[in-house]
Amino acid sequence: MLSIHTKDLSPVELQNYLLYAVAPRPICFTSTMDRKGNVNLSPFSFFNLFSTNPPVCIFSPSRRVRDNTTKHTLENILEVPECVINIVNYDMVQQTSLASVEYPKGVNEFIKSGFTPIASELVKPPRVAESPVQFECAVNQVIALGNGPGAGNLILAEIKLMHISESILDANGKIDQQKTDQVARLGGDWYCRLTKDNLFKVTKPVRSMGIGVDAIAYAIRNSKVLTGNNLGQLGNVEALPTDQQIEDYSRSPEIKDLLDATIGDGQTRELQLHLKAKQLLDDDRVDEAWKVLLIA
Ligand SMILES: Cc1cc2nc3c(=O)[nH]c(=O)nc-3n(C[C@H](O)[C@H](O)[C@H](O)COP(=O)(O)O)c2cc1C
Repeated sequence: MLSIHTKDLSPVELQNYLLYAVAPRPICFTSTMDRKGNVNLSPFSFFNLFSTNPPVCIFSPSRRVRDNTTKHTLENILEVPECVINIVNYDMVQQTSLASVEYPKGVNEFIKSGFTPIASELVKPPRVAESPVQFECAVNQVIALGNGPGAGNLILAEIKLMHISESILDANGKIDQQKTDQVARLGGDWYCRLTKDNLFKVTKPVRSMGIGVDAIAYAIRNSKVLTGNNLGQLGNVEALPTDQQIEDYSRSPEIKDLLDATIGDGQTRELQLHLKAKQLLDDDRVDEAWKVLLIA
């Protein structure tokens, strides 16, 4: 493994490693206004949700690595502590990138990038009409993380009013993750898109007290077939099947055939049972996988 002391890299080299490693990052497209009423619109991927009560997002306009100057978004927020955080979907990505051009202060990136401003209800900066989710925010705090090139400035933005497009809602009025089509920033020029084919579910462990990978028998934990993800699934069950359940399952035709075919060959039997368990785990049939593994 390559091990690097961060102090041995230039700010540009360090930024390169970090932006490729900490990815994907969601994008907030932030509109702000200076005290004279000039509007600014810029994207930031040093961004996330950090609290739901109170609802607080944080994003970070860094000092420019090139010349250590501060970004207009930060300067505006120090004058008028309000912003709108607009969520970016795939249809918006090229125009959003265009809005990141370092236009001189006072230039309105709504106009340069061709987005439509609509008036906010609680704050002065306008919202981006094309964005599927818009948060009107009051800025509670700004925390400078340093004063050299690349130093971040955390903007703690409390969400006061949310606007959510009906186009991404399900029948119950909740956001449907399969409809949001957000994009996220990675290293360099790379982005990724949240499409239906790359969504998957992981059962929340908080619903139960999983037995843990350490409680899984050695032969299963060291299986040549099962992956780390499979062990995570197995460790997430609260209890193992009973002997009776295992015995009943071993009589099912498929398992019975497997057992009959491997009489006297313990190694092949274990391998076949682990392969069957893996198949079940990949289908998220964890209870059945446990029964198969305990037959072994
Ligand atoms: C998708 C995307 C994400 C970005 N994320 C950040 C970021 O998190 N922090 C930052 O300082 N600049 C970031 N930038 C660059 C700023 O958007 C760019 O410097 C912008 O011009 C700042 O505008 P301002 O000076 O008008 O505030 C990002 C650019 C893009 C295209």
